[in-house]
Amino acid sequence: MSKPVSKFLLLSTVLALSLPAFAVQDQTIPEDSLGLSKTSVYDDTDPVVVNYGGGDPGTNKRAVRSYSSAPPMITHTITDMVPITRDSNLCKDCHVQPDLIGHKVAKGMAIPAPASHYVDAKKGDLYMGRWNCIACHRPQAEVDVLVKSTFRKAK
Ligand code: HEC
Ligand code: HEC
Repeated sequence: MSKPVSKFLLLSTVLALSLPAFAVQDQTIPEDSLGLSKTSVYDDTDPVVVNYGGGDPGTNKRAVRSYSSAPPMITHTITDMVPITRDSNLCKDCHVQPDLIGHKVAKGMAIPAPASHYVDAKKGDLYMGRWNCIACHRPQAEVDVLVKSTFRKAK
């Protein structure tokens, strides 16, 4: 009973070990087939610089959310606030304000990070899994997109 099983195992192990070698060989993609551009990236020696973000915090209109519970987009510039490191997080200085959760925030004031962002919202202990704010919240830029999004927010 055990013999055929071990033969099968041996055969599939040999196959599994030899497959990646073939797969890698066949995966070479020619440079001019990469991405959506019809020309090589090296032809464009002066690419358009993308400018992210609006004005300073407190001077922008809040963006409409794509759908309920979507992470809101960052409306202000973050130029001098990144990179976020283990020891430095300027976002926290303005947005970690647990006392303000659930209260109406005056125009121009920082919206407090919601209760979901803390281990203990009362004490303002941020959950470290949320430390890198820009993993979910992103600054915005006006760009000519190559492919228009067909995303429609849910009704
Ligand atoms: C000096 C204070 C300040 C700092 C620092 C700051 N923000 Fe803000 N943030 C604000 C204010 C004020 C607003 C209100 C809208 C505006 O004016 O842009 C805001 C808006 C936002 C919003 C939109 C919230 C919503 O519900 O519409 C997000 C998201 C956000 N900030 C994330 C960040 C992140 C991430 C960082 C760090 C990279 C950061 N902020 C740093 C003050 C600040
Ligand atoms: C893992 C993803 C993730 C990370 C990381 C994250 N957030 Fe959020 N954030 C969200 C989502 C999702 C929401 C929307 C939650 C909701 O509407 O209940 C949100 C909401 C917010 C809001 C809006 C609250 C409101 O009442 O409108 C602010 C401000 C905010 N986050 C700030 C921050 C800051 C500052 C950091 C970093 C310290 C951060 N977030 C890190 C996902 C994230």
